Amino acid sequence: MKKTLEVKTGTDEYKILIGDNILLSSGSLIKKKLTNPRVFIITNKLIYKLYGKKLENSLKKNKISFNKIIINDGEKYKNIKTINLITSKLLKYKVDRNDTLIAFGGGVIGDIVGFTASITLRGINFIQIPTTLLSQVDSAVGGKTGVNTKEGKNLIGTFYQPKLVISDVSLLKSLPKREILSGYAEIIKYGLIIDKRFLNWLLDNESKLMTFNKKYLIEAVFHSCKNKAIIVRKDEKEKNIRAILNLGHTFGHAIEAINNYQKSLTHGEAVSIGILMALDMSSLKGNSLNKNINKIKDHFQKLKMKTKIPNNIKRKTSLKKFKETMNSDKKVKNNHINLILLRNLGKAYLANRYSNRKLDSVINKYIN
Ligand SMILES: NC(=O)c1ccc[n+]([C@@H]2O[C@H](COP(=O)([O-])OP(=O)(O)OC[C@H]3O[C@@H](n4cnc5c(N)ncnc54)[C@H](O)[C@@H]3O)[C@@H](O)[C@H]2O)c1
Ligand SMILES: [Zn+2]
Repeated sequence: MKKTLEVKTGTDEYKILIGDNILLSSGSLIKKKLTNPRVFIITNKLIYKLYGKKLENSLKKNKISFNKIIINDGEKYKNIKTINLITSKLLKYKVDRNDTLIAFGGGVIGDIVGFTASITLRGINFIQIPTTLLSQVDSAVGGKTGVNTKEGKNLIGTFYQPKLVISDVSLLKSLPKREILSGYAEIIKYGLIIDKRFLNWLLDNESKLMTFNKKYLIEAVFHSCKNKAIIVRKDEKEKNIRAILNLGHTFGHAIEAINNYQKSLTHGEAVSIGILMALDMSSLKGNSLNKNINKIKDHFQKLKMKTKIPNNIKRKTSLKKFKETMNSDKKVKNNHINLILLRNLGKAYLANRYSNRKLDSVINKYIN
């Protein structure tokens, strides 16, 4: 079982391979993309322990030499210090312009390695092997790389595309349920913003995904990447339409920031709450969206996704503080918060005009 998706941006072209157990043949897939048969695997201890040998054996079988660089696990380490650490190791190993980096992990590793690849020797090749649902459906596609600073999330980074993405859904088996639901929030986002058919398919088949049916997982990853690729192709550098991928994210990022990016709330969990806030903000009395919103809320509740801001985070904020935090998101232009809202299911738009009173009432509903 394997599906292939071609991604084209203004400047690049690459393939996303999605399949079951394709890590075992990753060496031969990677080899075709190398100019020099040497790679650097960048991963963390947990992922290396789970799947490192499988990747290494496949590289060995294909006579690809490799070094590995193990970094600390967690969003907390997605910073410039880790970039320094990796680049100094690469330079010690005498990295060559024709060598390739392999990002072997979730979105944190993917963003770090993409950024490292884009600045090392002014840019060397990299390949993504995403190992979380969120990274397979979102962060490994589209070429955004970056690290966090104390001022905010992903504020330093580049647009830099990988040469290949290998998404093996069998790796998802070891993911905790929380991480699966976090990825699912991004999956459902694609349905909500541009693909009603996919949304209905998800509403009908969610149990297959939650019980780890690989055929359905491959379908879900494929359609997510396809939707993201369509948007990225139109607008690689987020000048306009790409912004709709941020449905729920302006709210979600504020919740994450108020929680200091602690593990008690994942990015996907913050996004699932943020999506519901955006849906509430989108609703108008009498609008046909109204009854559909309840359908989505019920779906989130049934899956036990996060639908409310946890009390300990609520206690740390107020309407004023929440709006200030939203204001520091990098999507904000000229001090005005642009919101991604829905006209209907499957139809998102960028709203720069909306009722401020309504925004206050939605925020108040969630933080009180
Ligand atoms: N570049 C983009 O376009 C983009 C898009 C969305 C999100 N992101 C970024 O992605 C990051 C979140 O990514 P994430 O949700 O993958 O988090 P993550 O990378 O922190 O992974 C979550 C946890 O799962 C572990 N893990 C990874 N693979 C596993 C596996 N197969 N089995 C068991 N455990 C495994 C990780 O070690 C980690 O502890 C954020 O930093 C976010 O900003 C980037
Ligand atoms: Zn996201």
